[in-house]
Amino acid sequence: MDVEVLLTESEIAQEFAEAIEARDLPEKFFYWSALSAQAWTAVSKSPLYQGLVRSWAGLAANPEVIAQFKSPVSVISLGAGDGSRDRLLMEALRAARRAVKYFPVDASQTLIEAACSAAEEADIEVQGIKADISSSVHLLLASDAAESPKVFLMSGNTLGAFDPLDQIKQVAQALHSGDRLIVDGELLCEDTVAAHDTLENKAFAFAPLVGVGITGEDGVLRFEQKRDERHEGLHLITRNFKTERDVRITTLSNEIEIPRGERISLNFNYLYTREAFRWLLSEHGALKIQTEFPSPDGRFVTAVCMK
Ligand SMILES: C[S@@+](CC[C@H](N)C(=O)[O-])C[C@H]1O[C@@H](n2cnc3c(N)ncnc32)[C@H](O)[C@@H]1O
Repeated sequence: MDVEVLLTESEIAQEFAEAIEARDLPEKFFYWSALSAQAWTAVSKSPLYQGLVRSWAGLAANPEVIAQFKSPVSVISLGAGDGSRDRLLMEALRAARRAVKYFPVDASQTLIEAACSAAEEADIEVQGIKADISSSVHLLLASDAAESPKVFLMSGNTLGAFDPLDQIKQVAQALHSGDRLIVDGELLCEDTVAAHDTLENKAFAFAPLVGVGITGEDGVLRFEQKRDERHEGLHLITRNFKTERDVRITTLSNEIEIPRGERISLNFNYLYTREAFRWLLSEHGALKIQTEFPSPDGRFVTAVCMK
């Protein structure tokens, strides 16, 4: 297995200790441990994400999408996870006789190994890149792994797990003429909070805390829906854990006291109206949207974009 490491495990461990100290855990820690990766896999297979799979399958089955890629095709997946959604497109490219070179980029060692080994089993040439896609330097290094024209993928509402206004600009900067970006977003629905408030999602949100010895009896996990006032139609689900008794945890060599009543901010997901997602990509990110593939359940949309 060939994985280039730009972000080491000891750097992640150091950042995790600092994040716990700051009571604010960014997205990458929710996939770091084997327990977290397993919890994400359960979420990603849950009914909430079934429409998304159909949206990517619809895109992969579209002859006009496939026709625009000449062989060989370099596929760089930002936040690839286990690569299962990426493989829907790559299998369709191979069925259309395109050679594919795959570059899954992810901060999670467990998930990048899963993406690489599944690609190897499918006989796809693969080079993993373990990197932090919120770093503009890592993003540029990862995007330089292949020559243009290349296709960037961002699936599973990965864009919405960062500040999407900053992240889309960084990703757009990595695109050259002839490159494509295929990115999905989760759409705001009436029952969005209820649809997220499941046992799988709770286990996923809680997994990094379990890793430092926090238990369900130490406090309460809350999901909240908020608006991002920077643009109409931008919403987000935030999660936090409020301690109900004093908690003492150990990270690296530090002992950290978290007194009763404190909140630890966990990761979040942006949700968009259809218009806000278009605005984000085309006006804010200065990309042209070529085609959109809404999921049949109306929960997601996947867009093919170019410069
Ligand atoms: C919502 S999951 C989506 C995974 C996959 N694309 C899918 O469709 O199932 C987000 C992915 O981004 C990765 N990730 C989160 N933060 C990251 C960061 N700062 N740098 C690199 N990868 C990150 C996670 O490890 C995870 O695999």
